Amino acid sequence: MTNLDHFWLPFTANRQFKSAPRLLVSAKDMHFISDDGRQILDATSGMWCVHAGHARAPIVEAIQKQAANLDFAPTFQMGHPIAFEAAAELARIAPAGLDRIFFTNSGSEAVDTALKIALAYHHAKGEGHRQTFVSRERAYHGSGMGGTAVGGIGANRQAFGNPLLKVVHLPHTHNLEHNAFSKGQPSWGAHLADELETSVIAMHGASNIAAVIVEPVAGSTGVLIPPRGYLERLRRICDKHGLLLIFDEVITGFGRTGAPFAAQRFGVTPDLITCAKGLTNGAVPMGAVLVKHSIHDALMNASENGIEFYHGYTYSGHPLAAAAAKATLELHRDEALPERAQALEDVFAEGAHSLRGLPNVIDIRTFGMMAAIELAPIPGKPGARAFDAFLACFEQGVLIRTTGDIIALSPPLIAEQTHLDQTFDALRRTLRAM
Ligand SMILES: Cc1ncc(COP(=O)(O)O)c(C=O)c1O
Repeated sequence: MTNLDHFWLPFTANRQFKSAPRLLVSAKDMHFISDDGRQILDATSGMWCVHAGHARAPIVEAIQKQAANLDFAPTFQMGHPIAFEAAAELARIAPAGLDRIFFTNSGSEAVDTALKIALAYHHAKGEGHRQTFVSRERAYHGSGMGGTAVGGIGANRQAFGNPLLKVVHLPHTHNLEHNAFSKGQPSWGAHLADELETSVIAMHGASNIAAVIVEPVAGSTGVLIPPRGYLERLRRICDKHGLLLIFDEVITGFGRTGAPFAAQRFGVTPDLITCAKGLTNGAVPMGAVLVKHSIHDALMNASENGIEFYHGYTYSGHPLAAAAAKATLELHRDEALPERAQALEDVFAEGAHSLRGLPNVIDIRTFGMMAAIELAPIPGKPGARAFDAFLACFEQGVLIRTTGDIIALSPPLIAEQTHLDQTFDALRRTLRAM
């Protein structure tokens, strides 16, 4: 029996978990194996990570080979080829112009890094007064202090006092009255972007604002899909007032929306992109910030021959992570995974929307290979209904994910029709029985 006392699990009801643990001991392709020997279909890509499926041979072999050859080497005033090769692979799939890559170890660090690049960029241009960030209600940008400050989920902030950065939140765009049961981008809500100009800039002054950070599709708070035209409006307002636009693509990157990045799918190019998770197929922790060439160059020119940006991590560009990233991105290319996601999108949406009409289902929304099924909360017990559904599906051998009373699905992009059918059948049985 594994001793469960000492590991304090993140974002987990620890006491509940330890009273009835759910342990996964191995994984391959679309499945986990639990400690009681059951096959569990992974309808969540681990946690929005394993886009190419679990334990894929080219990634496993690249990591093994790298560990035996160069386990660690510093990237402060030194370098090693595999980190540059991984950066080049990432630049290959990036939106045009975002071809300078800063490596981190997680999405949270990517967000903190992007916020610091934005501040340093304005400082280098003599506009150090631009220090306020704009984000959104219901945003999740990781657990670092910067990410916590720009985050828009009350529970993630309330125990931690005043976050360190000056942040103004725009409203989120989720509105069941107007947009329930939308397939793809909802039609109502683009006007909410205008609040950036009419409310935030009017109140705080554009010259005090460094950047706007948004998830193109908000993932952690339940797949909130941007209304048609919303991101375009944000881009226009940022351009007009000299604000940088950061897309946090930790969840939407690497084919999840049917393109390498959601920026390409939506046809809106930000100034910086944060990413992680699918970058290494979840196999080794790694994050990255994709930076517009001109922003990078503005920082390079700020000082002569000295260190240009006083920021970094011991493990930035770690050899094992870099090897995993390079192998992952090559696998995405060889198996055309973003294109595969696009080809699956309609059948996936059809399966999700087939749950409409089941008890307590108040919304279903889908975009790319992301779906949310929103349930009416049990009065006085927020989140309990969806968590019960999570436990019931796990019993039936399907791993789903829940956030509040929203079920979020994000299967690996190698999923076959039978995997999608199994997922929706388990959900149908569960929701009928509840
Ligand atoms: C949009 C977004 N940003 C940042 C993060 C944080 O990433 P990590 O958990 O790797 O620090 C997440 C994690 O889910 C995320 O969804």
